[in-house]
Amino acid sequence: MIIGILNSGGDCPGINAVIEGFVSAAYRRGWRVIGFHDGFEGLLPIVGGRRYEILTPNKTHKIRSKGGTILGTTNTGNFNVRVNKLGHASVEPSVMDKARKTITALGLQALAVIGGNGSARTASLLSEEGLPVISIPKTINNDLCPASDFTFGFQSAVSVVSESIDRIRTTANSHQRIMVIEVMGDLSGWIALHSGISTAADVVLIPEIPFDMKNVIDCVKARKAQGQREIIVVVAEGARLNGSLVTVRNKDNGDERLGGIGNRISHILEDETGIEARYCVLGHTQRGGSPCPFDRILGIRFGVEAVKLIEQNTFGVSVVLKGLDVDHVPIKEAIAEPRMVRPDSQMVRTARELGVIFGDLPPEELYGHQKTAEDPSATEKKTGKTSRKKA
Ligand code: F6P
Repeated sequence: MIIGILNSGGDCPGINAVIEGFVSAAYRRGWRVIGFHDGFEGLLPIVGGRRYEILTPNKTHKIRSKGGTILGTTNTGNFNVRVNKLGHASVEPSVMDKARKTITALGLQALAVIGGNGSARTASLLSEEGLPVISIPKTINNDLCPASDFTFGFQSAVSVVSESIDRIRTTANSHQRIMVIEVMGDLSGWIALHSGISTAADVVLIPEIPFDMKNVIDCVKARKAQGQREIIVVVAEGARLNGSLVTVRNKDNGDERLGGIGNRISHILEDETGIEARYCVLGHTQRGGSPCPFDRILGIRFGVEAVKLIEQNTFGVSVVLKGLDVDHVPIKEAIAEPRMVRPDSQMVRTARELGVIFGDLPPEELYGHQKTAEDPSATEKKTGKTSRKKA
């Protein structure tokens, strides 16, 4: 058997772990693996060369801890799926044709595609063309499909954000500042929500819970009035300010590059609360570097599972994590809808129990009777007794 693997779209920690798992399981079965360079582009011929290599266990052993991808990647290029007005997705037929020729010429009996939303769509189109494709979901955003509880890369990003916020908190505390941290996530709020809970952020602003800046300002003032020195605000890049996305760049083809909401929010908060505010965009630090152990292990499991599916002749599917088990679903199901944070989910309810400000409620509703219950001096003043317990 000769099988292929490529990764496409933005990179994320854990891709190399998938490649290692895939190559290791394939070679155990006596198969050969071809790794294509720079995404689907590797399937296209170039003059005087080739854009792929034979991957052997010698090359891939222990790459599970390496960040990035040894194959290189791109989120632009010839395979970008275009959707017409009728909602029909396609890749230029001549491009598809060239890819098919490469696959046939190399005698590939299967192709594993590691990718996010866009790449899984391209994988689905290749599969519709009759090519034996397996999709392996990856993204730090964790927004790929409801069918997978987690994608690898997400936990690594949350670790980076959490460590950064822990650092930012100490300087925010020294200066009694508001610090606004802008994180990735595209149009989902998973990274902001999880890192906000893990670092005890005061405010978490995500696309799935529309917020009113007035609520955020009033809640921050209330928290300051309770004597808190620093205020930590985590905002997802895809959260909407006054109902609109904030972008740093819009291209003619309609592509929007998200960014800038952290800056805008920090200025509003400083102006409206009178408290000094700064912002920090964590950007691509969230995607770079070594994968955390969870992502290494999930990546390896996905890679090995893809080989097992090929062995069973099961194609047109995506591997997924369901609870503790790696499973698979049709690629079409995996790309049917994005995975978003549910505002009524247990995670959000947990955050609310901790007093996280989502900006959808005014302080009266958020804090309720908490102020008097937490302030022992209030009880002392009323009863004239001290609340100190005997040792
Ligand atoms: O990988 C997902 C993501 O990190 C998004 O959250 C972010 O908007 C985008 O990729 C950035 O992509 P690029 O590397 O093209 O700037």
